[in-house]
Amino acid sequence: MEKPKNLILVIFGASGDLTSRKLITALFSVRSQNLMPDRYAILGIGRSKISDEEFRVKMNAAIVSFSEEKKTAPDKISAFTEDLHYLSMDTTIPADFLKLKELLKEFDTKYDIGGNYIFYLATPPSLYEDIAFNLGASGLSGQTEGFRRIIIEKPFGYDLKSAKKLNMTLHNLASEEQIFRIDHYLGKETVQNLLVTRFANGMFEPLWNRNYIDRIEITSAENLGVEQRGGYYDSSGALRDMVQNHLLQMVGLTAMEPPSSLDADAIRNEVLKVFQSLQPIREEDVPQQVIRGQYTASLIRGECVTGYRYEKGVDVHSRTETYVAIKFYINNWRWGGVPFYIRTGKRLPTRVTEIVIHFKTTPHHLFQRQSGKLSANQLIIRIQPDEGILLKFDMKEPGAGFNVKNVNMDFHYSDLAYLRVPSAYERLLYDVMLGDSTLYSRDDEVETAWKFLEPIQKAWANNPAIKVFGYPAGTWGPEFANDLIEGEGLTWRYPCKNLADEELYCEL
Ligand code: NDP
Ligand code: BG6
Repeated sequence: MEKPKNLILVIFGASGDLTSRKLITALFSVRSQNLMPDRYAILGIGRSKISDEEFRVKMNAAIVSFSEEKKTAPDKISAFTEDLHYLSMDTTIPADFLKLKELLKEFDTKYDIGGNYIFYLATPPSLYEDIAFNLGASGLSGQTEGFRRIIIEKPFGYDLKSAKKLNMTLHNLASEEQIFRIDHYLGKETVQNLLVTRFANGMFEPLWNRNYIDRIEITSAENLGVEQRGGYYDSSGALRDMVQNHLLQMVGLTAMEPPSSLDADAIRNEVLKVFQSLQPIREEDVPQQVIRGQYTASLIRGECVTGYRYEKGVDVHSRTETYVAIKFYINNWRWGGVPFYIRTGKRLPTRVTEIVIHFKTTPHHLFQRQSGKLSANQLIIRIQPDEGILLKFDMKEPGAGFNVKNVNMDFHYSDLAYLRVPSAYERLLYDVMLGDSTLYSRDDEVETAWKFLEPIQKAWANNPAIKVFGYPAGTWGPEFANDLIEGEGLTWRYPCKNLADEELYCEL
């Protein structure tokens, strides 16, 4: 594996939750695999007044709590945290960027960096434009010596207009090649495996179209509620938080044409074409094509679970959706007429993300099943947990007659016990150090995704009569979401946390 050039990684928002839980543990894993540059420094930034040493102690504790490598030797963690530094500054104060510039100069000489800096924006999103502007104004974003890259955490804007404005601010100080917009789903091994499943196997691709596929279903369910992020979530909701980025990216990779190469732009061009082909949902059709819900209090295994409106940081009259399900079409030759169904929600029965390809039934039903129900093949691509792939098909039950039974053929990543599945942030951070933006969202992709969601946002804003359905925490969301699915007796798949145990309602 290639080693990145020497560099300094600056994390704005280093005293926050994301840095502790995801970024620092991911960087630690990259280092454990000996994939960090030979010489580097990591500089954390926040307003909190803490010393380098206090920051190191905090990050050490974060690695112990959140790293997947539970049995890591303490001296390995300390060796990593020694390279961590902290600067207290306020990103809204331009003069503070001069302090930063001075410090970077000092580190540059000390660690022989050669001017390669990566700036990771992990602060509240309202600060992104200020930080970008101040980086430009202080001369930190110009690539006169070394490279300068900027990583932007999600959310990238809250609608089409704000996303365009943020893109414009960023483009005023840096070229598109320098900008890395995070969508951590793209960093997931199983999301990338979608490309391999589709384009490395000759048997799927000929069937991957409107002639053989009846419908496609994508679910990203979470069993947790909004936890400590009520304040952020209440101004966001499931549509902005999950659909605009993670779910649409999975739609893009499922529906795209084969790319001409594995170049960052070759893949992203194909995803963009899918986004451009999404049939716009008219504002007046939103109530029929989009179902939104909000979890209410319930008892789960005898324990009281708080309703969304009573979570910390949430308005008691909030109409923010914690669940959304959408039906839509892709207007192109491959997918014309095939409905796509996507749904996501918090406080559902289990945590699971999967893509279900429902194939059409056979043209003639020679072996009508005894249950009277026609079965059809399904290919289930499990993104998490119990990562893997399941193919469902019919077999003859041994014995007299022709009794047909639906059976599973499954592959689980966990069977490859010798392989460790890296975390999404680990992959994304390593890629940015190499300058590879394949797994980052491009400006036009982000804007086109927002454009698709715009009529939904407008309909919800302009028409208070559109219902927000309540659903008890621990259930699969509003029952009305089943009405979206075309076809007699068809419903969503109700997956379990184990890939092969579908239709079970799992514990929270
Ligand atoms: P937190 O509120 O936990 O942290 C915010 C960070 O920003 C703190 O380090 C805070 O430092 C710093 N900060 C705030 N204002 C300033 C300022 N004026 N100058 C300098 N630093 C400032 O947020 P999260 O870590 O949860 O989230 C950060 C970003 O990551 C958000 O955009 C969020 O949407 C995104 N994200 C978070 C996820 C998560 O699981 N937490 C998941 C996906 C995305 P201090 O308080 O010391 O000033
Ligand atoms: C984040 C959302 O982007 O993704 C969170 O802001 C959500 O609300 C999270 O919980 C889900 O990510 P994962 O990797 O746990 O599916």
